[in-house]
Amino acid sequence: MKVSHSLISIISLVLVIPFSNAYDPSPLQDFCVAVGNLNNVFVNGKFCKDPKQAKAEDFFYSGLNKAGSTNNNVKSNVTTVNVDQIPGLNTMGISLVRIDYAPYGQNPPHTHPRATEILVLVEGTLYVGFVSSNQDNNRLFAKILHPGDVFVFPIGMIHFQVNIGKTPAVAFAGLSSQNAGVITIANTVFGSKPPIYPEVLAQAFQLDVNVVKDLEAKFASKN
Ligand SMILES: *[C@@H]1O[C@H](CO)[C@@H](O)[C@H](O)[C@H]1NC(C)=O
Repeated sequence: MKVSHSLISIISLVLVIPFSNAYDPSPLQDFCVAVGNLNNVFVNGKFCKDPKQAKAEDFFYSGLNKAGSTNNNVKSNVTTVNVDQIPGLNTMGISLVRIDYAPYGQNPPHTHPRATEILVLVEGTLYVGFVSSNQDNNRLFAKILHPGDVFVFPIGMIHFQVNIGKTPAVAFAGLSSQNAGVITIANTVFGSKPPIYPEVLAQAFQLDVNVVKDLEAKFASKN
């Protein structure tokens, strides 16, 4: 009885695993170094060059020792190193960012449609968190990070980081996609082109319509 039960479990596992969701494709060869975009031709990822033509430079990037400028409204800067910077990342399912935060700066609430993120704080003090989905009752998972601390933002969850210290903060993060994508909530909702009707957002966010018009004007003037 027991044996046949575990046999059934194993068989169902074997049947289910091949159909589990995979985001970035798994490479079917050593590598698939991306070649430049062809106009108006799209593939899921990038075309790859002849593997014999691949060079060390295709897997290389330099400059992540430099801070991005935090002279902006949110006082933070994300330097992205994905397949656009390293063509050798094509089909590898991974990328990297450096995030700089001025004192009291923040990386505002956003989500990555294609990646889970693992962040390590190198310098400063961050308050970080993500919110789970409606199904999980929108719980906030938050922590204060000190240098050496690591936090994970699961794929799709809205998350943020705030520098709560008086000094600059620096973090690095790995993402489980060659092109994770970013949806910054405020910019996306209030800064769409053309704008979403203010009445729609007034009801959705339970705000006075004039407040929404104000927000839309503010975010329209930014990129
Ligand atoms: C981030 O930093 C780079 C390099 O300093 C700069 O060119 C870019 O404009 C900055 N982005 C923002 C949003 O401030």
